[in-house]
Amino acid sequence: MIVQVVQTKGTLLLNDNRESLAKAAAIIKRGGLVAFPTETVYGLGAAATNAKAITSIFAAKGRPADNPLIVHLSDRNQLNLVAREVPDEAKFLADKFWPGPLSLVLQRSEYIPAEVSAGLPTVAVRMPDHPVALALINLAGVPVAAPSANKSGRPSPTSYRHVLEDLTGKIDAVIKSSTCKIGIESTVLDLSGHSPLILRPGGLPREDLEKALGRSIGVAGDKKNSLQPASPGMKYRHYTPRAPLILVTGRESVKHQVLNRLALYHHRKGFAVGLLNTSMQQHLKKNSDPEKFAAKLYSYLRRMDAAGVDIIFAEEVSFSGIGLAVMNRLKKAAARVLRV
Ligand code: TXA
Ligand code: MG
Repeated sequence: MIVQVVQTKGTLLLNDNRESLAKAAAIIKRGGLVAFPTETVYGLGAAATNAKAITSIFAAKGRPADNPLIVHLSDRNQLNLVAREVPDEAKFLADKFWPGPLSLVLQRSEYIPAEVSAGLPTVAVRMPDHPVALALINLAGVPVAAPSANKSGRPSPTSYRHVLEDLTGKIDAVIKSSTCKIGIESTVLDLSGHSPLILRPGGLPREDLEKALGRSIGVAGDKKNSLQPASPGMKYRHYTPRAPLILVTGRESVKHQVLNRLALYHHRKGFAVGLLNTSMQQHLKKNSDPEKFAAKLYSYLRRMDAAGVDIIFAEEVSFSGIGLAVMNRLKKAAARVLRV
């Protein structure tokens, strides 16, 4: 069995077979950085208990020091290790939605160094729904802290190729595996205060959480919740493509027309135009499916960057289900929002 596939500028590209994962786990155990697939996006993993390794994650990504990381588990019992206390609602949600795209913010235990949480008394924790991620964490024998494996400010990676684009030479290894089926990061739910609050909309729809808990859940940054602090990461202008992205929002009947006219106008003026809407591949009817669009969103943005487009026009999608997360990311990527 071949373990090592390629080595580029010091970064190993590993297979996702058992032998290669053992090698990846050994790198994590000795304090190194390994990018691995999850069902949401690729993560850049280090041993969550190793403060020095955690610091090197921030350096490799160019990540602001005040933006905390998510701790990934392979076993539900590890939750009691990383959190000082596990409230009943957290137990209930972990049982219901793990493994899956839900990160729970709880009180941090001493087991997790402050560096992981950028000094906050809390910790975000989740169990990813990907066999490779689970095997890697299990073999590493410790919870694995991992932000998305992109250079800070770039769209999150949904394939090992995206990771190599951003981090070759800066990390020890990347695991070559299938693409990430959800394609958008986990939903971050704060359970450390007195009522649950979504800090970051993500792969697990708000509606599913509300149904499970039998009550409505606020989203940080919504007007009603404007006094609540959002997730530290949400203040950064994330997910920026290189070309300015104009987000067209408003009435259904008009926005599609406006989008197409703007695109045509700029094309005629000699600009290379990128178009981003759920019906972009109308001949494949299935692509108007919001989940399919979400899964491809980051790779579309990266592809537009690579193609060197001058301007991107994106159309607002419905805020329901995964749409809430898609709109959150599009707004963050947008240089301007145009209301029609
Ligand atoms: O799906 C995901 O969540 C991916 C995969 C790799 O698991 N990870 C990911 O990590 O998106 P990252 O670092 O790109 O985003 C973590 C988000 C940030 O918005 C951060 O501020 C928030 O989670 N976060 C982490 N710990 C927190 C804490 N203790 N309190 C509040 N927000 C926290
Ligand atoms: Mg990220």
